[in-house]
Amino acid sequence: MHKPKIMTVYGTRPEAIKVAPVITELQRDERFRSIVVSTGQHKEMLEQVNKRFGIEPDYDMALMKPGQSLNELVSRAMAGLDTIIDEVDPDVIISQGDTSTAMVAALAGFHRGAKIVHLEAGLRTGNICSPFPEEANRRIIGQVSTVHLAPTNESRENLRRENFRSKDIVVTGNSVIDALIAASKWTVEFEDETLKEAIESEKRLILVTTHRRENLTAMKEIGGAVQDLAKAFPDHVFALPLHLNPKVRDEVLPEVEHLPNVVITDPLPYDQFVALMNRAHIVLTDSGGVQEEAPSLGKPVLVMRENTERPEAVVAGTVKLVGTNRGLIVAEATTLLESEAAYKAMANAVNPYGDGKAAKRAVAAIGFLVGVGERLPEFEPGIM
Ligand code: UD1
Ligand code: UDP
Repeated sequence: MHKPKIMTVYGTRPEAIKVAPVITELQRDERFRSIVVSTGQHKEMLEQVNKRFGIEPDYDMALMKPGQSLNELVSRAMAGLDTIIDEVDPDVIISQGDTSTAMVAALAGFHRGAKIVHLEAGLRTGNICSPFPEEANRRIIGQVSTVHLAPTNESRENLRRENFRSKDIVVTGNSVIDALIAASKWTVEFEDETLKEAIESEKRLILVTTHRRENLTAMKEIGGAVQDLAKAFPDHVFALPLHLNPKVRDEVLPEVEHLPNVVITDPLPYDQFVALMNRAHIVLTDSGGVQEEAPSLGKPVLVMRENTERPEAVVAGTVKLVGTNRGLIVAEATTLLESEAAYKAMANAVNPYGDGKAAKRAVAAIGFLVGVGERLPEFEPGIM
C-alpha cells in the first residue's frame, strides 16, 4: 500500500523548534512516511535544536554562509531543494512560518506538484516591508498552499479577509507551545558559569534578545537602551543570549560588553533558554517565538518593534509594543521595574497561542488532506 510521503522542510532555529513536535508526531504515525529536510540556513543555532529534540534530517543541505544575502540563499535553496523533491517525490510538503527556507520550500514544492501545508499560516502585520522579508514570505506561501494551519482565530480571519476558503483553513494553535511544554519537563544544566551564577542569585533578571533584519539599523539604539537600563539598575542582571548574525553582534556588543551586570552568551540551547525565560522578571525582545512563549509563562514582554503579527497577547495585556527608540525602551522598562501595579497588570499567564495539541491537529489535518483520516476539533484559547 502507498504510504503518503510527508516532507517537512526547515532551516532556521525557530522553524526547527516549531516543526519538532510535528515531526515527532508524524514519525510515530504508521499511516505516513516522514521525510525530514534541513536547508541548513542556520548552522550552530539549528544543530542545537536538532540535538535537543533528537531530530536527524534525512537530507541536510548545509547552506549557511557567513553574511549570506537573501537572493544568494534563496537561489541556492531553490536549486538544492528541487533535486531533493525530484528524488523523494513527496505527496505533501510542510513549510513552517515565514523564513526564506519556508518560502522556497513552498514554491519549489508547488512547482513540482506537491500539496503544500503551511504551518503557522495567516500571520499578518499588513505592511509588506515589516517584518522584512517575512511578511512577503508568508503571503507568498499562502498563495501556493493547499491547507493553511492557522495558529489562532485571528490568523484564520486574516486569511478569510484575503479570500482563502474556510474549508482549507484549520485552527491548530501554535506548535511552539507544544515545544515549550516538552522543554519545561527537561532537566536543565546551564553551561555558562556567569549565567549560572546570575540565575542562582536572588537578583532580578531581565532577558533581552534581538535579531530582526529590519531592526539592524536600530541595533545600536537597542544596545544603548540595555546600557542605560543596566546603569540605572545596577542590582539587576541583564541576560543577553546573542544571535550569531555578525551584524547584530557588531552593533550591540560595543554598547554593553563592558558592563558588569550584563551577561552576554552565545545562543542558548532551547532547554536553557526556556529555563531562562522562566527565571526572568521581564523580557525585552524582537523575536516572534519569544512573543508567543513568554506570555504563557506569565512574563511581561516589551516588544522592540513598531508592529506585530501576533496581536493576541497585546490584547491580553501581557505584551506591549515599544518600538526601537532608545529613550522609549528605557522609559517603558523603567516603569515595569519600578511600578508594582504596572508589573502586576502585565504579569498574567495567558495562552492565546496554543494548548500543546497543535502537532496532533496538524497531523490529523494532513491525514484528512491525503484521505486517510479525520480532522480534530480546532484550538480554542482558554481550554487546555
Ligand atoms: C532568519 C530568518 C528570520 C528568523 C531568524 C531566526 C530569513 C530571511 N530570516 O534570520 O525570519 O526570524 O532567522 O533566528 O529567513 N549565523 C550563524 N550561525 C547560525 C545562524 C546564523 O553564524 O547558526 C549568522 C551567519 O553569518 C548568517 C547570518 O547569521 O549569514 C544571518 O542568518 P540568516 O538566516 O540569513 O538570517 P537571520 O537574521 O538569522
Ligand atoms: N531561543 C533559543 N535560544 C536562544 C534564543 C531563543 O532556543 O538563545 C528560542 C526561543 O525560545 C524561540 C525561538 O528560539 O522559540 C525564537 O527564535 P528567533 O528569535 O531566532 O526567531 P523568530 O521567532 O523571531 O523568528
